[in-house]
Amino acid sequence: MKKIAIIGFGVVGSGVYEIIRKNKDILTKKAGEEIDVKRILDIRDFSDHEEAHLFTKDFNDLVNDDEISIIVETMGGIKFAYDYTKAALSAGKSVVTSNKELVAAHGDEFFRIAKENNVRYLYEASVGGGIPIIRPLANDVSANCVEEISGILNGTTNYILTKMFKENDSFESALKTAQELGYAEKDPTADVDGIDACRKISILMSLATGKKFDSSNVNTIGIRGITAEDVQYAAAIGCTIKLIGRGFTKDGKANASVEPMLIPHSCPLSGIEDVFNGVLVKGNMVDELLFYGRGAGKLPTASAVVGDIVDIVRSPQYNDYFTWEDGDSSAVIPYEDVKARFFVRITEDKKDKVKAIFGDTEIIKGVSDYGFVTKKMSVADLEKGIEALGGIVGKIRLFK
Ligand code: HSE
Repeated sequence: MKKIAIIGFGVVGSGVYEIIRKNKDILTKKAGEEIDVKRILDIRDFSDHEEAHLFTKDFNDLVNDDEISIIVETMGGIKFAYDYTKAALSAGKSVVTSNKELVAAHGDEFFRIAKENNVRYLYEASVGGGIPIIRPLANDVSANCVEEISGILNGTTNYILTKMFKENDSFESALKTAQELGYAEKDPTADVDGIDACRKISILMSLATGKKFDSSNVNTIGIRGITAEDVQYAAAIGCTIKLIGRGFTKDGKANASVEPMLIPHSCPLSGIEDVFNGVLVKGNMVDELLFYGRGAGKLPTASAVVGDIVDIVRSPQYNDYFTWEDGDSSAVIPYEDVKARFFVRITEDKKDKVKAIFGDTEIIKGVSDYGFVTKKMSVADLEKGIEALGGIVGKIRLFK
């Protein structure tokens, strides 16, 4: 029997417990031996729980227990999660996590400690909730140079944008429902301001390139600035708006960004709604792959955690497949050099200057102002054009 412990009995941690109890027979068959939860660490009181005896508030009860070989970290945040993960790996226990903040910031360090102790550090649930995306990137596209990864990586913001587009719901009301459904982070600003998606694209790019792509190098814009009028403009040009984490590689260098983008209805990402996430991976041999599923929520995310547990029970010893090394900021393509088309909103007085600065383009009349789509240009050239115009109302990048 393989004994595990869970740190953090919140949405995901309690989902892990539930799956292990409900799917016991399936898991025993898949893993080759029974998996059992021996301890649960949480600072809250669970004395009413049907297995109250499993709960402890003392990490030593987990880390000093030789019977426990896998620790599941679903507490989130950095402070305690960092110390507990380091201690668990150093004590020769494998760790499975859903904590994207921790993986993005300290993954390379934990992989080194896991190697020293011949154990594993797995994190499938940290990106895309229940969607298998880490394992396919680590294993199944190994024959490729990954040229691009583009995805809807945050369920909460996708839920909000879907409600704004389809039901004319307000931002605040949609966010409240997403929180009630357990999709949002403890502090939902991490969702709304793109920070959660930033951590996730940084994990995907680190894994794809084998070098840490630091979150601080991801140009990150959230969805707070998206208005009802942007929604109307998007519809007028045959698009929807999604928060997209996008990374690409070129000549051994890489770029990653998170920002709301206008997605044409012909793109598969445009139809991904509510809490669902979708990740497009482009390999130089396989071409485009689309990964789709529930990007947040209790059981989908816990399903990815338990999948990692089964992997460790089958292969408990360290391997390099899911790891990356320390990165180098000189290998980052600056955001200013990224080339794209943009939708630009302007006041009426700027209308006549547009063609002289941006070339031939159709000017679209909105409710309170005007808009136009640029040709493909670098962010740096766009900024120069905006300066020549004397300012704009707003801009949104086009996906294609
Ligand atoms: N808050 C995250 C989201 C949870 O909404 O996608 C899953 O990582």
